[in-house]
Amino acid sequence: MKMPIVLGNWKANKTIAQARQWIAWFSSHKGQLPIGASVILCPSFHHIPLFVEAGLPMSLGVQDISEFSSGAYTGEVSGDMVSDMVSYTMLGHSERRKYYHETDEIVAEKVTRAIESHLAPIVCVSELSHVTTLKALIPDFSSRGMLLYEPLSAVGSGKPDTPERANNMAKEMMHVMSDVRILYGGSVVPENVRAFVSEEYLAGVVVGGASLDPEKFLLLIKRALES
Ligand code: PGA
Repeated sequence: MKMPIVLGNWKANKTIAQARQWIAWFSSHKGQLPIGASVILCPSFHHIPLFVEAGLPMSLGVQDISEFSSGAYTGEVSGDMVSDMVSYTMLGHSERRKYYHETDEIVAEKVTRAIESHLAPIVCVSELSHVTTLKALIPDFSSRGMLLYEPLSAVGSGKPDTPERANNMAKEMMHVMSDVRILYGGSVVPENVRAFVSEEYLAGVVVGGASLDPEKFLLLIKRALES
């Protein structure tokens, strides 16, 4: 049986106090997590030490890293700075491509920094050309990281893609980059998660809004793993 990956992306949300509340709730209900569940949480940088201390049964990631390793880059957080706390980094999320003008070339630089820092990159793509360019710039990407397919109209809109269309897109992406694991992201909720993770070419899901409430997130993980 396929063990789907569930990745929570908190985006720019939650104070320290709110993150502590989330952790406290999840910690007291963690016994309900299905055995072998593969959960990754990407909160914001300042939350990460709280999660490390809490030791919840989930892997940790960050939502972005700098394209530079270290030095005079005010405001940046590099892979090396977080690599003793997290295992993953998301890169090139559609919101970063849109609001911070990240290009495929910048994303590829970040992938290289992530690999140097021993972080597994999760590169967000919304069209096939993103995959073609990534493959050209980082030929061995599929053995290093995962892709997150997020159709622009589905992110944060409450209007998910259909599982069939997402699966077809993932299949096409695999023609470009064979053996890569592909997650789907865009308005995934407890009610639709099962349909996405049941699709052949989808290795799991990325959850934004529905990861902010720990009760909803736990329910979503349980639904994802129901047989
Ligand atoms: P959403 O975000 O679940 O709020 O649509 C998805 C994403 O970050 O890819």
